[in-house]
Amino acid sequence: MKIAKQKGTKDIFSDDMLIWHYMEENIRKLTQKFNISEIRTPVFEATELFARGVGDETDIVDKEMYTFLDKGGRSITLRPELTAGVVRSYIENGMSSLPQPIKYWYIGNMYRYEKMQKGRYREFSQFGVEIFGSSSYLADLEAICVSYEFMRSLNIQDKVILNINSLGNVASRQKYIKALKDYLSSKIDCMCDSCKARYNKNVLRILDCKVDKDQEILKDAPKIIDFLDDESKSNFDNLREVLKKINIPYVIDDKLVRGLDYYNGVVYEYKSKDLGLSVGGGGRYDGLVETLGGIHTPAVGFGIGLDRIQLLLKENIDLKAIKPKVDIYFLTLGKKSQDLSVNIVKTIHEKCDLIVENDICERSVKAQLKYANNIDCKYVCIIGQNEIDNNVCKIKNMKNGSQIDVELNVDKIIEYVLNEEKGNI
Ligand code: HAM
Repeated sequence: MKIAKQKGTKDIFSDDMLIWHYMEENIRKLTQKFNISEIRTPVFEATELFARGVGDETDIVDKEMYTFLDKGGRSITLRPELTAGVVRSYIENGMSSLPQPIKYWYIGNMYRYEKMQKGRYREFSQFGVEIFGSSSYLADLEAICVSYEFMRSLNIQDKVILNINSLGNVASRQKYIKALKDYLSSKIDCMCDSCKARYNKNVLRILDCKVDKDQEILKDAPKIIDFLDDESKSNFDNLREVLKKINIPYVIDDKLVRGLDYYNGVVYEYKSKDLGLSVGGGGRYDGLVETLGGIHTPAVGFGIGLDRIQLLLKENIDLKAIKPKVDIYFLTLGKKSQDLSVNIVKTIHEKCDLIVENDICERSVKAQLKYANNIDCKYVCIIGQNEIDNNVCKIKNMKNGSQIDVELNVDKIIEYVLNEEKGNI
């Protein structure tokens, strides 16, 4: 019996893998430019980390976690997100005593037991950045700049819209929650079941409701922006002013509250019209380090869903432009020619970055040429008995069909191909 992959998971290979490599290379280049270093944390953590960090009342913790008891009876959870794990690491490794700010990036798989749909998986991957040690709006700005530059580097900045909002500090949020509850108290009975459930548990999440009649009710609800404390308001104003100055387009979404409990101050999401989904989100989370047992540490960060970015790229990218091409395919015939070719290919791999492949199936000349065509290589280097006897190899340019004898010598082969590529011959 065949065994199928689990619901909400996928295999990534072939052209899709090219896009993943393209995204990952961009991330490495980009984070280096911003002087952000990489962090890798475990895929599983103590369940309590997420219950306390992300929040018991959130959908993620309440309904979506992959939680199990290990053989030692510990409650373990496959990470549903990575911010809590990075914060745990920050505290556990005493990073607060290092010069601040501390800036980390990561790429990692995470797990949420969600209803499958296009762009929503049970195993998915995020590129994220977490910055510790600055309460300035400049840190919020830096995180937004990195995330926006990521979109720009992939040329999809016009495919997403940056939505921003500010949640204010704890006190101002409490005032807002009270005002929202007062406003909804006479209306909640007419709203959907999920809103009813959220009214007492996590009233802010009602603002996310997509049901039309509930949206209508929410139109006249009090706005969080009118409840901001002075510091949050001035941070938000400063941020918006600079975003305008540096040409990062955004819209204000006063209903944006995010689905994780740790945020305060500025929050944002990149929304994709094509996918009808958010492709990334983040914000400030000044209380989380303390909540998880560390000293008070202001922090900001974001996570971008790479599976969703991949879907966007698939529609918008020229795969040929990112696919590395095989430079030389070595076509051989018989043991003597194979042994020689193995040695030549080994030396080329040691000497330079040319992408070079040998025949490894001992097939006929016709079959080898067919394979060379299939892999779309630039040159075929033919080494048969005749060539060996004359101390040459035949190099065929697969683009224009021309063929030339080149001395059967590694350096001459490399020199010929590199010169031909430069158009010097
Ligand atoms: P989040 O909004 O839960 O934030 O997730 C960030 C992104 O991960 C989403 O915008 C989406 O692109 C992707 N994502 C989430 N769930 C799925 C899924 N089931 N399938 C595919 N993609 C998904 C966080 O996780 C925060 N930790 C971000 C953050 C970092 N905030 C501060 N620092």
